[in-house]
Amino acid sequence: MRDAEKITAEIEKRARARSHSPENSAFQKFIGEDWGERPAGPARAEVADYTPARRAKLGELFPEERLVFPAGIYKVRSNDTDYRFRAHSAFAHLTGLSAEQEPNAVLVLHPQKESSTSGNANNSTSGITHRAVLYFHPRTARTDAEFYNDPQYGEFWVGARLSKAEMSTLTGLEVKNITELEADLEKNLGKEVKNLRIIRRVDKNWEQKVAKLRSRFLPEIAEAESAEKDFQLEEAASELRLRKDAWEIAQMEAAIAATARGFQEIIKELPRARQHVRGERVVEGAFSARAREEGNGLGYETIAASGNHANTLHWIRNDGPVREDDLILIDAGIEIDSLYTADITRTLPVSGSFTPIQKKIYNAVLAAADAAFVRAGEPGVRFRDVHSAAMEVIIANLQNWGILPDGEAGEFARMQQYYRRWMPHGTSHHLGIDVHDCAQARREMYQEALLVPGMIFTIEPGLYFRADDLKVPPEFRGIGVRIEDDILVTESGVRRLSEFIPRSATAVENWIAEIQGNCLEERPENE
Ligand code: GLY
Ligand code: MN
Ligand code: MN
Repeated sequence: MRDAEKITAEIEKRARARSHSPENSAFQKFIGEDWGERPAGPARAEVADYTPARRAKLGELFPEERLVFPAGIYKVRSNDTDYRFRAHSAFAHLTGLSAEQEPNAVLVLHPQKESSTSGNANNSTSGITHRAVLYFHPRTARTDAEFYNDPQYGEFWVGARLSKAEMSTLTGLEVKNITELEADLEKNLGKEVKNLRIIRRVDKNWEQKVAKLRSRFLPEIAEAESAEKDFQLEEAASELRLRKDAWEIAQMEAAIAATARGFQEIIKELPRARQHVRGERVVEGAFSARAREEGNGLGYETIAASGNHANTLHWIRNDGPVREDDLILIDAGIEIDSLYTADITRTLPVSGSFTPIQKKIYNAVLAAADAAFVRAGEPGVRFRDVHSAAMEVIIANLQNWGILPDGEAGEFARMQQYYRRWMPHGTSHHLGIDVHDCAQARREMYQEALLVPGMIFTIEPGLYFRADDLKVPPEFRGIGVRIEDDILVTESGVRRLSEFIPRSATAVENWIAEIQGNCLEERPENE
C-alpha cells in the first residue's frame, strides 16, 4: 500500500504530465542564450513616500517584536486554475505594491534599537522601532530552468519579474530573496527579539513556520496567547487604515471617477439590456469591461438588481431581465490598480423617468442619505450617529405611509426595530483598500469613534419592499431603492466624494436622457 505522501506526489505529477519540457542540458543551454537587453525597470512609486509613515506608526505599537505580513498565495479556482492574485490588504497598504503584486512575498518589520535609526531618513525603509524588509522571489537568470518551465514564476509563463534591485527602487524598501526569510525570522528570537507575530489566514506555510519558531524559541507563550497576539496585529493593521493619508484620498477620488464612467457605460447599455433575456448581465458586463479597462477590476461583485431583485441585498447572480417599468439598483465599484475601490449605488428608472410611487420611495431614501450627511458634518459626531440620522428619516416616512404605526405602538415598533424589515443593513462602513475597510478594528475605534479628518466611509440607506410583502400597500411591492455615496471627513466637515454622480430623481432622469440621447444619435439606425 502506498502512503498518503506518495499518493499526493503521484497526483501532482499526473497534473503536470500534460506537457514535458526537455530537461537535457543542451536544450537548457539553447533556450537560455541569445536574448536581448531587458527594458529599464520601474521608477520609484509615488506611494513609497507614504508607506514609511504607515510602517512607523504600526511598528511603534510593537517595540522589540518581529512582525510578519504575508502577501498571500494564489487561490485555486478549480483544479490547476487559480484566481488572479490579489495581495492581503495589510501587505498592500504597508508596501504600496499594487495590482497583481506580489504572490508569496512577505514583509517583515524587524525590531531595532532606537539608536540605529540615524541613517534611515535617506532610504526610508524603516521607522524608529523597526527595519522593514521585503522578501520575495526575484527574477532568475534566463539560463535557469525556471525561466521556461515554471508556470508560477517563469518568464515564459507570467512575463518578466522584477529583480531585487528593481523591487527596491519601486518600493523604497530593503529587499531580500524569500529564501533568506526563514533564517531571518529566527535571528535573536527569544533574546533581543521578544516575540514574533504574523497576520494569520493569509499564508499557511509561513503561519506554520512562525508557529514552529515560537514553540522552539518562545515556549513560555502559550498557543492561545499567540493567537490573541496575532489578532492584535491584524486589528492594529486594520485600525491603521481608519484615517487615509493624502495619497490614499487621491486614490479614492480616482476610483470614484472611474466608477462614475462605469455607470455611464451602464446607462448607454440599458436599451440593449431591455432587449436581452438576461438584461442584468448586460448591465454587469458593461461595468466589468470598464473596470478592467481602467482599473485592476471590480472592488466587489456588482449587484445589478432589476425590479424585485433589488430587494435581495446581495443579488449578484444578475441573471434576470431588465424591464421597461423597473427600477434597477446597481451597486458597483471599480478597484483601481492601487487596490483602492469605490462603492457606489444608484437606482435608475429603466424607462428614463420615475413613476410617482417610485419617486416617492426614492425621495425618502435620498432624504435619509442627506440627513446622514448633514449629521456627519456636525462637530462631535460618532460613526454610529450617521446611521441613526438616516434611520430617523426612514422611520418617519414608514410612519407617514402607514406602514409603521406611530404614537405608543410606534414607540414599541421602534424599540423592536420593526423598521429593519424594510432597511435591514447598516448605513455606513469604512471604505478604502477593502470595500468593507478596517473590518478588524475595535468597536470603540469604529462604531463608537468620533469622526476625524481622513476617514472615508459610505452613506447608503435604502428601502426594500419585497413583491410578496403583505405588510405594505400593493403599490410599494416589488420596489427597492438604495443610494450610496462615498464620504470624506475633512478638517472643516465632510465632503461627498461622489457628489458629481447624479443623485436627485431629476438629476438621474437628466443623466439618463443626456447619455442615451447622445449615444442614440451616434448609433447607426439598425441598432
Ligand atoms: N457593495 C457592498 C456594500 O455596499 O457594502
Ligand atoms: Mn457599501
Ligand atoms: Mn455598495
